[in-house]
Amino acid sequence: MTTSKKSLVYLTGFMGSGKTTLAPILANTLGFAHTDTDREVERIAGKTVSEVFRDHGEEYFREIEHRVLEQVSKEHHRVVSLGGGTITRPANLSIMKATGITVYLRADAESIFNRMKNKNDRPVLQDSTGERLSETDLRKRINDILVSREPFYNQADIIIDTDDRRVGLTVDSIVHALHGRIE
Ligand code: S3P
Repeated sequence: MTTSKKSLVYLTGFMGSGKTTLAPILANTLGFAHTDTDREVERIAGKTVSEVFRDHGEEYFREIEHRVLEQVSKEHHRVVSLGGGTITRPANLSIMKATGITVYLRADAESIFNRMKNKNDRPVLQDSTGERLSETDLRKRINDILVSREPFYNQADIIIDTDDRRVGLTVDSIVHALHGRIE
């Protein structure tokens, strides 16, 4: 890991870990701008993430997501909230390592299940026809994906536990952990 200071902060973590909620608040606290990669993908594709998955498949989504990350990595003084799967592409992880400080918002499988069980806008947590999974299958899907992604998430520079913590406290912890590491 390089010790030089960076001016991009990447927020990674599973769906429902709070990246999109925390990012603008963190950005505001640091005096940084904010980009959410899913919203950028939607802007470029002209459709929602669910529609991109439905109409073109996950591979296409991952290609646009990669291009968005490449672009935003050239910026400075910005908090970037990533999709939950962005970090699992080696090329994406390299970009993140080279250009910013990555913060993993860690949540356990049960909290994720509780935050996701009533949502229907996460294609990777649905069946192949876009239908909601049973609670048993959803629990298993979350667990399986979380286990397969943890080796990637754990490569973050900073790990913050988000379970049962108020947003303000989590932001304070992130700001504290970033101290001296960003310019
Ligand atoms: C995904 C997470 C989503 C979005 C897409 C795929 C994933 O973002 O990028 O549905 O593979 O974990 P959030 O983590 O913001 O929900």
